[in-house]
Amino acid sequence: MTTNVTPESPQTAGTPRRKILVTAALPYANGHIHLGHLVEYIQTDIWVRFQKLRGHDCIYLCADDTHGTAIMIRARQEGRSEEALIADMQQAHVADFAGFDVEFDNYGSTHSDENRALCAEIWSKLRAAGLVSEKEVSQLYDVEAGTFLADRFVKGTCPICKAPDQYGDNCDKCGAAYSATELIEPRSTLTGAVPEIRSANHLFVQIEQLHEFLTEWTQSGEHLQREVANYLAGHFLGDPLRDWDVSRPAAYFGFEIPDSPGNYWFVWFDAPIGYMASTAQWCKKHGQKFDDWYRNPNVEIHHFIGKDITYFHTLFWPAMLKTAGFTLPAKIHVHGFLTVDGEKMSKTKGTFVRASTYLNHLDPVYLRYYYASKLGPGLDDLDLNRDEFVSKVNSDLVGKVVNLASRTAKFVAESGLSKKYPDDGGLFADAAAQGDAIAAAYEACDYNRAMRLVMALADRANQHVETLAPWKLKNDPDRAAELQDGCTVALNLFRQIVIYLAPVLPSLQRQAAELLGGGVGHWDDARQPQLGVPIHPFKHMIKRVEAKQLEAMVAESKQEFAVSEQQSAESSAAPPEEADSPAPLEAEPLVTDLITIDDFVKVDLRVARILSAEEVPKAKKLLKLTLSLGGDERRTVFAGIKNAYEPDKLVGRLVVVVANLAPRQMTFGTSEGMVIASGPGGPDVFLLSPDSGAQPGQRVH
Ligand code: 2FM
Ligand code: ZN
Repeated sequence: MTTNVTPESPQTAGTPRRKILVTAALPYANGHIHLGHLVEYIQTDIWVRFQKLRGHDCIYLCADDTHGTAIMIRARQEGRSEEALIADMQQAHVADFAGFDVEFDNYGSTHSDENRALCAEIWSKLRAAGLVSEKEVSQLYDVEAGTFLADRFVKGTCPICKAPDQYGDNCDKCGAAYSATELIEPRSTLTGAVPEIRSANHLFVQIEQLHEFLTEWTQSGEHLQREVANYLAGHFLGDPLRDWDVSRPAAYFGFEIPDSPGNYWFVWFDAPIGYMASTAQWCKKHGQKFDDWYRNPNVEIHHFIGKDITYFHTLFWPAMLKTAGFTLPAKIHVHGFLTVDGEKMSKTKGTFVRASTYLNHLDPVYLRYYYASKLGPGLDDLDLNRDEFVSKVNSDLVGKVVNLASRTAKFVAESGLSKKYPDDGGLFADAAAQGDAIAAAYEACDYNRAMRLVMALADRANQHVETLAPWKLKNDPDRAAELQDGCTVALNLFRQIVIYLAPVLPSLQRQAAELLGGGVGHWDDARQPQLGVPIHPFKHMIKRVEAKQLEAMVAESKQEFAVSEQQSAESSAAPPEEADSPAPLEAEPLVTDLITIDDFVKVDLRVARILSAEEVPKAKKLLKLTLSLGGDERRTVFAGIKNAYEPDKLVGRLVVVVANLAPRQMTFGTSEGMVIASGPGGPDVFLLSPDSGAQPGQRVH
């Protein structure tokens, strides 16, 4: 039984049939799928399966993101063509996804004819709209590799704090942002060569021309989560939008720009167009028209992405679509990152686990359920806590769900289910009525809530089985009808739960269909009980998990990492795992995690008095404040409040300052703290002020 919906499938009673196109971010072809990636692919797969189960016309598209310098260098190192390399990686990715029951309707590649044609079409529209300009760009160049170097491919000593081994865009140690050409003793991470500065002509898209549209689109409240809209308003939309550099000079693995020989589209230009190219491939295979999906205001396009690539999907991508006249996304669903036992995934600790390594040790349903039980509609990071993983799988999946069937199916193996639904005190009807609330939670990507609602139903169903105690009843031939009725109720409650969990656990849906002889293919099947049918022999469904399986997985991951380290030490240099990565949001991630009281008390908040406030020439948002923290202590702080306050009016005022923030090197000087304010930015910034009477230097509790 699959959840695929043919155009004839009935949609859920009372809801019109929606046409929904869903994508997950395209994984880079130069790395394997790991558990962090799977947060997104599983989350999206659940949402798509839910929509299909409701009878909507929904397709799930993805592709490998194949272009860029990293692939080019790796192919050279391996002595084969880029095409051969990306074909192998695609095969590996497809197998990993299948292993986790992630079911795409089409899985394409950005290195496809469809993508090349769509890139050319969008490019010509950008040109025609007068959005393309040209500028000389100076960049570090690796003479040995014969290529310009993206910031992530250069390492050297930080020009500010002199920390060694820092990337070309910002310093891990002091947080300073700089350009790669400022690094001291730079080295190419590709070959180890000392790069030289060269300049080349680059092509830019002037998205500032779409500023007004982007403000309206991002701030309408319809397409983005609130945190994301606020982030864009606070970080980008208050200033003119910077031109976007969309070309790279040869040598580069990608598509050559038709009207600019020797220049290639930057990987981030053609990657999102890959969503459309994958759609075009699917349309060809299914006899559908591309324009019915991409030039159709009645289609809902949903992109699921991680928070690190928000910038590309919420500013550049809508700007490109708008200019080229394609359907804009209905929603962009942004999620957080995966942590393991509260920490960043670590290769040395073995917590950076590949999908294939997981599958060597554990059942994929565990991870699908665990992720679902942790995912909410916001941008919080998701923690894979090993103890919690074991307890959720064993107590919820095995203890509450599968046990319902395993403890009752055998008692109706001969009789089948009762012909008339017995009096169950309202259990079935209540669970049927819960269907709408559970559906609303799935729709809102609040899977955590959906799982809690379903487990509450499972608790009630289990109470029914406990009270029934079929293992005792079976010994009393006079009570055979009671036994059959009681098990009919239990198996129907099990069936409802399986339907509600089907988006998360399609394999359980298949197993239950076998046991019950079908009847779990549509969301609305949960409204009517299954009666008078034979019950097939119960076969094992989900095994209990043991902590030692997780330990073995972690041990294997550690081992893999040790081997790959050795290999890369043997070859001159291994390319990094990611192609040219997006700096803007990485440098300033959205902070949405919960913190503990211990974290909070580490922040040293102090009362301060503003001694002087000056405009910073050329800075659109900043004022330079000199603060007194009591006694002789003075601090210089650059605050983004210029559009909200006149400098003169600030002098003498009390503010609250974060006093133990590491100094931050900015273009205009060093900022030695941060003043606290609220509001979205621009003219709407409100400084927090202590009441008069507070003294500079006092700690804020
Ligand atoms: O960040 C990444 O992994 C990119 N490969 C995502 C591309 S998504 C889309 F734009 F294609
Ligand atoms: Zn530094």
